[in-house]
Amino acid sequence: MNDQAQFLWGAATAPHQIEGNNVNSDWWAREGSMPGMERSGDAIDSYHRFDQDMRLLADAGLNAYRFGIEWARIEPVPGRFSLAELAHYRRMIDTALGLGLTPVVTLHHFTAPQWFAEEGGWLGENAVEHFARYVERATEILDGVPWVVTMNEPNMLAMMVTMERAMRSAPADAWQSPTVDNDPRPTLPPPAPEIGEILVEAHEAARKIVRARTGAKVGWSVANRAFVARPGGEEKLRELVHIWEDLYLEASRGDDFVGVQSYSSQWVGEDGIEPHPPHPDNTLVGTAYRPDALGLAVRHTWDVTGGVPILVTENGIATADDERRIAYTGEALRHLFQAADDGIDVRGYLHWSALDNYEWGHWEPTFGLIAVDRETFERHPKPSLAWLGDVARRGRP
Ligand code: FCB
Repeated sequence: MNDQAQFLWGAATAPHQIEGNNVNSDWWAREGSMPGMERSGDAIDSYHRFDQDMRLLADAGLNAYRFGIEWARIEPVPGRFSLAELAHYRRMIDTALGLGLTPVVTLHHFTAPQWFAEEGGWLGENAVEHFARYVERATEILDGVPWVVTMNEPNMLAMMVTMERAMRSAPADAWQSPTVDNDPRPTLPPPAPEIGEILVEAHEAARKIVRARTGAKVGWSVANRAFVARPGGEEKLRELVHIWEDLYLEASRGDDFVGVQSYSSQWVGEDGIEPHPPHPDNTLVGTAYRPDALGLAVRHTWDVTGGVPILVTENGIATADDERRIAYTGEALRHLFQAADDGIDVRGYLHWSALDNYEWGHWEPTFGLIAVDRETFERHPKPSLAWLGDVARRGRP
């Protein structure tokens, strides 16, 4: 059995990105309608191959696996719950426990049922009630799960809802702002705080249910942008950090833990977030190579939450070069352990991602410790998996 006090060393995934054929979800519908977006399709068929995936992690020496359960499968039609799908996720939990992997279960990772989206999504009148009803059913299968993440990156989710709202009510480019020369990618719009408040309400409702019905520690996971001010940008940073992160971190104060998710860092000047210019060292998603971001993220989270225990629920790099993944992760871990040595209560490190997967519209950015042949679904562990397993056995980077 798992020793709950042990440091968690593991990897993370999200259902829509790995399972395949998540046909009742809002993302499945969206994939078909947005130009330039690749489809998830069979994804990497982890729905049928989760046993093999978990075994690879356990055999490498990891002791934890973060995965999600998919609302659209469990409640494909409003109020009608699939017992077979609940049993599927229970089998996943049992498989993890049987392999000595502590399950960290996410209840919502960006996706919702399409019917929920049609009722207005998170802006719909009964959004929080709908989510709470699903969480209530989901808790029936969580026996023995020590960690539950109610919602993944509510701040990024709020940003996506903000963007959709703008696209519905204004010209398609209403939310776009100018970015660097020759870079067609628009700067992301700031998440509207009133949408964030709805998600805080949903989180609090879920937390109450999870606490009443399970023995799990409960929290949510916040995307941390590791903002750093340029001289003169200090005031702008204070304003932006509240909108992007602190609203969500403040809501973690009553939680059992907070999930830190960190990839890169961003400069803030007088005029706002500085678009990151193209550079040969950039990752495959165009962000700066900044393994030090994890230390910044953990320290900021600790300060704002006032000392809520931290679980790193995501950290990693989109790269086709696995040596670079190892270098990035090794350095990120050194920053994490420096923070822990300074007295920050860090409970674990879950790498994003266990496997190369569907990166929300794109297949090219590969974050995985394991490569997957998308025609045969064969798994090919990369050297970084064995490397992380060795770090886990040593217990330190
Ligand atoms: C995070 C998401 C995760 C994945 C990584 C790269 O924002 O939670 O699903 O897309 O980024």
